[in-house]
Amino acid sequence: MSNYHIKHLEEYYQVYRKSVREPEHFWEEIAEEHFMWQRKWDNVLSWDFSKPEVKWFEGAQLNITENCIDRHLATRGNKTAILFEPNDPKEEAELITYNQLHERVNRFANVLKNQGIKKGDRVCIYLPMIPELAISVLACARIGAIHSVVFAGFSATALSTRINDSDCKMVITSDGSYRGAKTIDLKGIVDDALEDCSCVKTVLVAKRIHSNINMKEGRDKWLKPLLEEASTDCKAEVMNAEDPLFILYTSGSTGMPKGMVHTTAGYMVYAAYTFKNVFQYKEDDVYWCTADIGWITGHSYIVYGPLANGATTVMFEGVPSYPDFGRFWEIVEKHKVNQFYTAPTAIRALAKEGLELVEKHDLSSLKVLGSVGEPINEEAWHWYNDNVGKKKSPIVDTWWQTETGGIMITPIPFVTPTKPTYATLPFIGIQPALMDENGKELKGNQVEGRLCVKFPWPSMARTIWGNHQRYKDTYFSAFENKYFTGDGALRDEVGYYRITGRVDDVIIVSGHNLGTAPIEDAVNEHPAVAESAIVGFPHDVKGNALYGYVILKDTGESRNHDNLRKEINQIITEHIGPIAKLDKIQFTSGLPKTRSGKIMRRILRKIAHKDTSNLGDTSTLLNPEVVNDIMDNVL
Ligand code: WTA
Repeated sequence: MSNYHIKHLEEYYQVYRKSVREPEHFWEEIAEEHFMWQRKWDNVLSWDFSKPEVKWFEGAQLNITENCIDRHLATRGNKTAILFEPNDPKEEAELITYNQLHERVNRFANVLKNQGIKKGDRVCIYLPMIPELAISVLACARIGAIHSVVFAGFSATALSTRINDSDCKMVITSDGSYRGAKTIDLKGIVDDALEDCSCVKTVLVAKRIHSNINMKEGRDKWLKPLLEEASTDCKAEVMNAEDPLFILYTSGSTGMPKGMVHTTAGYMVYAAYTFKNVFQYKEDDVYWCTADIGWITGHSYIVYGPLANGATTVMFEGVPSYPDFGRFWEIVEKHKVNQFYTAPTAIRALAKEGLELVEKHDLSSLKVLGSVGEPINEEAWHWYNDNVGKKKSPIVDTWWQTETGGIMITPIPFVTPTKPTYATLPFIGIQPALMDENGKELKGNQVEGRLCVKFPWPSMARTIWGNHQRYKDTYFSAFENKYFTGDGALRDEVGYYRITGRVDDVIIVSGHNLGTAPIEDAVNEHPAVAESAIVGFPHDVKGNALYGYVILKDTGESRNHDNLRKEINQIITEHIGPIAKLDKIQFTSGLPKTRSGKIMRRILRKIAHKDTSNLGDTSTLLNPEVVNDIMDNVL
C-alpha cells in the first residue's frame, strides 16, 4: 500500500508508527513508488550522530530536475508549472508550462556550461522573485552545480561574505528589482560586493527594470542573448544521492552565517512528501507560498516540493502592501488560489488594515492556509481563520528550519484537528524529544523543554559548508546523540507541540533569523560606540523587534542621540541589511556583567520587555548599580 497521501487521522497514526518502527522500509517504499531514479540505492540509511554523519539512499543516482520537470512532460506538459505574478498588477501574469519550464531550464543549464560551470561548482544567485530565479536554481541542479541563493534584501557586505565563504565562481543577478513603488539597484550591490570577491569570474545579468547599469568588461554578461543562442537540450547530470544540491546561509547566534548544505535524494523525497500532505495538494490546485526563494521556505515549498508533485506554484514578485494592503487577496481571487502559505508577520500587518480589503475579494477558492517562520499568536491565528479561511480552511502552523530542509511539526489539514498557536503533531518519520537542562529527556505529556530530534530524517542538512566541526558543535553537542534545534517547546496533555521560541541568541524578526553577535559587531563599528548588546522585545507586527543597549565612548557623549541612532542603523543596513535595523537604541553608561565579563542578557531582555518585577538573581553581577540606571532610562 502506498502511504504517499495521508487522508485521515487513523491513517496518520498508523503510518507514523510504521515510519518510526521501520524507518528504512518506510522511506524506501515512498522513494521507490514516487520518484524517478537512474539507479536505485544500495542502502537506505546509515547514520551516526556522534560524528555526525547521515546518509540516505546511498548508491542511488538521480537528477532532481528530472523529477521536478521531465517526468511530468508526458502527462502535464501543458499544465502551468510556475505562475508568475509581477509586482505591478497592471503587468500581465506569466504562465510557464512544464514544457516551457523544461525548455528554459535546459537553455539556462547550457548557458552555465558554456560559461565554464561544472558539477560541484558553486553559483551564487542574487535575484528578485522573477522567473529567472526559479529557473536558474533548477538550471544549476540540472548540471550538478551547487546553488547558493542569497536573499536579494541582503547588503553588499552580507553578499560578499556568503560568496567568499563558499567560493562561488559565478553570480547570477538582475539589473535591478521592483519592490512596491520602489526600485532597487541590485547590480550596484553586486558590484560593491564583488570588490572583495576574487573567486567570481562571471556575472550573468537578467534585465528586469531596464535601468542604466555598469557592465564590467570580461566579467558581466547579459543573460538574454546567451539564452537565445543556447541549445534547448541539456542532459541531466548524474548525481549521487548524497551529492550537495545547494547551500543556504542562515544566521547563527555567533560569528559568520552558516552555509547549510543540503544533499540531493533525501531532500527531494522529504520536500515532495511533506508538500503533498501538508497542503493536501490535488492535481488541478493552484498553490501559493508568499515567501522569497532566498529563504528555505521558498526552496522547499515554492520550487522543489511543488514541482516534484507536478503542481502549479505561484511566484509573486511584489509586496503585500502594493498597490494596497488588499494585494494578497486580489491575487488569491485572480488566480483562484487553493493553498495559501504565508508568515505570521504578514498576517499581523494585514490584520491592522481595514477588513473591507479582505472582504471585497472572493476567497472561496481557498482550501488550506499555512503559517511558517515564527510562532503565530492567538489573535493573528483567529484573524486568519475567521477572515481569510472563513472558518472553513484549516490552518497548518508548520514548524521547521533551514537546517531541517522540510516541515517537521505540523497539522495535516482535514486530518489533524488544529489548535491555535500549536504546530500540533510531528510529521511522518519525525521523532522529536523535549529535554531538560541537564540533558534528560522529558517523557510523557504536559512537559516543556528544549526541542531536539532523535532520529535522522531524509532532508536534514548534512554539514555546514567548510566547517563540519561547527555543525557538530552547534547541533549535536548540547544533547548526546540528538539534533538540537535551538528552540524551546511544550507538549500538551494530548501530545500536541507548541513552539515557545528560541532558547539561544537568535532573534526571529518578521520571520527572519538574526543572530545578535553580527549585529553587535556592526554597531561597534561606529566610531563613537564603545560596546553594545542587542536583545529582542515583543512587537505587534514583526513578532520581535531589536533593542540595542549602546555604551558610547567619550567622543560620542556630546553628539545628538537621534543622529547617532540613524548612523548606527545605517551601518547595520550596510553590513547586514535593513531587516536587522534596531527599533530602539538606548544609550547607557554600562551593561550588566558577570564577574567573568559575560553580559547578562536575561536582565536586558526583561528590561526591554518592560517586565522588571522579577529580575532574578543579580548577585553575581560585577556592577549591579547599572541595572537601575538602565531601568530608569528604558525606552
Ligand atoms: C522559527 C524557516 C514557531 C523557529 C522555515 C525556528 C517557528 C526558526 C515556526 C527557523 C513555527 C519557524 N512556529 N516558530 N511554525 N516556524 N519557526 O531557518 O524559531 O528561517 O528555529 O526556517 O524559525 O527559521 P528558518
